[in-house]
Amino acid sequence: DTSLRSLAEAKGIYFGTAITQGDLNNPALTAVAGSQFGMLTPGNEMKWDTTEPSRGSFNFAPADRLVSFAQANSMKLRGHTLVWHSQLPSWVSSLPTTQVKAAMENHITNEVTHYKGKLYAWDVVNEPFNEDGSFRTDAFYNAMGSGFVADALRTARAADPDAKLYLNDYNIEGQNAKSDAMYNLVKTLKSQGVPLDGVGFQAHFIAGQVPSTFKANLQRFTALGVNVAITELDDRIQLPATTASLAQQANDYAGVVNTCLAVSGCVGITQWGVGDADSWIPGTFPGYGAATLYDATYRPKPAYAATATAL
Ligand code: XIL
Repeated sequence: DTSLRSLAEAKGIYFGTAITQGDLNNPALTAVAGSQFGMLTPGNEMKWDTTEPSRGSFNFAPADRLVSFAQANSMKLRGHTLVWHSQLPSWVSSLPTTQVKAAMENHITNEVTHYKGKLYAWDVVNEPFNEDGSFRTDAFYNAMGSGFVADALRTARAADPDAKLYLNDYNIEGQNAKSDAMYNLVKTLKSQGVPLDGVGFQAHFIAGQVPSTFKANLQRFTALGVNVAITELDDRIQLPATTASLAQQANDYAGVVNTCLAVSGCVGITQWGVGDADSWIPGTFPGYGAATLYDATYRPKPAYAATATAL
């Protein structure tokens, strides 16, 4: 078996993908997803706007379908995400600050309990930082200050003691002000005995611009006693893609795999999407695309071969 998932597992890491509910209707996509990837992250369905669209009213049906797909294909699951400023229903952001803590704890307890025993890990808090390393002044920070992070982690641990608990962010792959802030937060939380198992590095890269400090940065986090994971990998290309840019992308993907394999405590890599046709990149970064391992018809690209070789 030369699938990415088997090659990764033979090296002691996982290789995963993100899938949305709509993707389940695409047989070309699901065939690749179920055979090549060993971990599934729901792309949107575990976010607050889907799971608790109005206060106290929970909807787990969309994510449950993805959980069933993962289980049917012997894939593990990453829960994404419990506390995030985005895809947050307006009822939360318009609560009086005195009520946000209870709402957050109730949300975490209900969602984590629903999936108790089924998930490998949770992205408990997503994207807490601004680019300069200051905390985002979102509903949670405004109500609780930076203590919302520890409170969220403790609440998640109480609801499912077996799921690995992660903080997740983007633009923290290299050493910079934002990754310094995450590093300092992790250091503080660990010194306080707050339950925290890992840090997720989203890794939404631009072809040719993977930070040179990626490996050293991951290593300074693992030195704090946490695991690291690459949680949302893609490598966008300015369109139209060329032979040269696809070769650059292949080189980038191999580099990411080699980096994870070289860092003890790097548990795995998840690509954000299966193929270029279902990737979020073209919709969010106009002029960019072709960011994944598979082309628009789910044929493997040069980056696929490079990934398989690096694994
Ligand atoms: C993206 C999804 O892929 C899109 O479908 C959605 O419209 C917006 O969110 N960082 C994250 C992910 O943590 O949840 C985001 O997913 C991409 C950026």
